[in-house]
Amino acid sequence: MIFYTNDLVEKYKQEIKQEIKHFKKKQGITPVLSVVQIGNDFASNIYVRNKQKACLDVGIDCKLHNFAEKEITPLQLVKFIKELNDNKRVHAILIQLPLPSSFFNVNNILNVIDKTKDVDGFCPYNIGALVLGVPSVIPCTPLAVLNILKSQNFEIRGKHCVILGRSNIVGKPMAALMLSESATITVCHTGTKNLADFCRSADILICATGCPKFVTQEMVKPGCIVIDVGISRDENQNCCGDVDFENVKNKASFITPVPGGVGPMTIAMLLKNTLDLYRTSILHSPAQLN
Ligand code: GUN
Repeated sequence: MIFYTNDLVEKYKQEIKQEIKHFKKKQGITPVLSVVQIGNDFASNIYVRNKQKACLDVGIDCKLHNFAEKEITPLQLVKFIKELNDNKRVHAILIQLPLPSSFFNVNNILNVIDKTKDVDGFCPYNIGALVLGVPSVIPCTPLAVLNILKSQNFEIRGKHCVILGRSNIVGKPMAALMLSESATITVCHTGTKNLADFCRSADILICATGCPKFVTQEMVKPGCIVIDVGISRDENQNCCGDVDFENVKNKASFITPVPGGVGPMTIAMLLKNTLDLYRTSILHSPAQLN
């Protein structure tokens, strides 16, 4: 089965839109997501545009703060994030990644975001909470993958889940999340020997390498559930994922395409996380916001 996520995404968006409408009417407060983008990365421009459009669709005010790389230093960025932390009108903060290479200490910068506004769930507190099994904000891509699996009522407990890639954005939080669902986890990376053997033993294969068409038919067990997180361009400049889709689709029992799979679902999870932070903020301190 090839699983296009558009219907599921639409269902999430409608629910989020209704809840925001309800809160806005009752509290008179609009949810605000501040997106900080440094530089002019081609892929980031597309991601940010898609995030802005999705926010508009559901009634979230998405404020883009786009700085040229030369316009802002890491120290000034830290100061700017602190101002967003202190701004009561801002409910959620997102620093678009990757940052330009001159901003080399990414973790120190992400660490400045107030944990109650950290919509990506990337700050050490939120990652720690996820690993401890008491998550507050779950990173959007792993959450998207889990919700795709849950939408199909797939049994996760006891399944062998192989994750390709160990990034802080996907691989590591994905492993923590699937572990809390009682899957048995293997994380493969550039140092892994016999990677294809691990892939062939997967019941659920989650691919987040960033290498176009890396996963081929020979690497997949018949009936495997294949989730493709990658987004790249192939030799003809067409958008493709980590999985050689045409080659693998008939061997997998379930596969997400690129485009049209995990990507739109990730944006739906960003909307969900923004709504959750907004809801918590107004329920905890409605008076000061009025
Ligand atoms: N760049 C690619 N994916 C992501 C993401 O999920 N969050 C942020 N902030 N930047 C990204």
